[in-house]
Amino acid sequence: MKLRRKVTALAMASMMVFSMAACGGDSAQETTAAETKADAATEAAKETAAQAEASGGAGGNIGVCIYKFDDAFMTTYRNALQEILEGKGYTVTFMDGKNDQAEQNNQINNFIAQGVDALIINPVMTSAADQIIATVKDADIPTVLINREPTADQMSAYEKLVYVGCDARQSGTMQGELILDTANKGDINGDGKVSYIMIQGDPENVDAQYRTEFSVKALTDAGMEVEELDLQRGDWDRNKGQEIAQNDLAKFGNDIEVIFCNNDDMAIGALQAIQAAGRKVNEDIYLVGVDALDAALNEVVNGNMTGTVLNDANGQAQGAVEAMEALLGGKTYAAGEQSIYVDYVKVTPENAADFQ
Ligand code: GAL
Repeated sequence: MKLRRKVTALAMASMMVFSMAACGGDSAQETTAAETKADAATEAAKETAAQAEASGGAGGNIGVCIYKFDDAFMTTYRNALQEILEGKGYTVTFMDGKNDQAEQNNQINNFIAQGVDALIINPVMTSAADQIIATVKDADIPTVLINREPTADQMSAYEKLVYVGCDARQSGTMQGELILDTANKGDINGDGKVSYIMIQGDPENVDAQYRTEFSVKALTDAGMEVEELDLQRGDWDRNKGQEIAQNDLAKFGNDIEVIFCNNDDMAIGALQAIQAAGRKVNEDIYLVGVDALDAALNEVVNGNMTGTVLNDANGQAQGAVEAMEALLGGKTYAAGEQSIYVDYVKVTPENAADFQ
């Protein structure tokens, strides 16, 4: 895990350099204006840093908005952010959006009123991105969006805005590959098709949309026939994962060969239902998730999950803080250069221990 973190940090650093070289205005006049702004921002950042140093810290008040605290993966992510930011001497305040966009909007406005130096925002609704971006732009606050990716077009509205996250298509593809890597490529009963149920996250979120699409696409791209027995939203939630799997196992019985879960917390719930139904993972059913939560890593090692995909919370937190510091240093981002991605990693029983 430590090695992986270092590699990610290095990759992030080189991406930052690349994006930095690519930024700038379209015309000479814009460039001058942007440079003047950037110079002023650099001066301001220097001043903030100097003030902070005088008061014993490395600098700045940072507001962090999380879509809801009660989310297993975002809890790991939040802890990583806190450790990195506080370790660097920032004063950081975390707000729980409680899965309510109106509540989060108030929190963003409060942070702005308090004069925070930068914001890190995990939006409640991806569809609220335009409004969030307009608000932070209006207040001229450097902002890093995390975990829920807006479109490049939406982000282009504000040059002091960056998204740090992962490309969810990659995680979906890896889930499909985990099934293809099994002895019978997911076709346990040998009837020529892979029959699965899909337990989806919040479908408003691209992570849920892409993981659903690309996990199955990996199978069909490899020439497998597939049959979707059920697709239901579990909103990233363990209890909902358990309920959906329990109902589907009662309804479809042995016809279910694969349970795809858009995240690990739902997969852990599904595993409870699988065990209660007397089924055995990797023998008469396959189960995959995403995130590499500690609980899921244990189940992969024990053979109770077929595999998972590392959603690198530490790498993303590191990247988010680096991007924030670049913005605080006066860097601006050109349209099309505002998404910074961290790689997912496939997790199997062979390498799971590396991530524990
Ligand atoms: C995903 C993660 C889920 C959930 C979601 C929240 O990337 O896999 O577990 O945390 O983000 O948006």
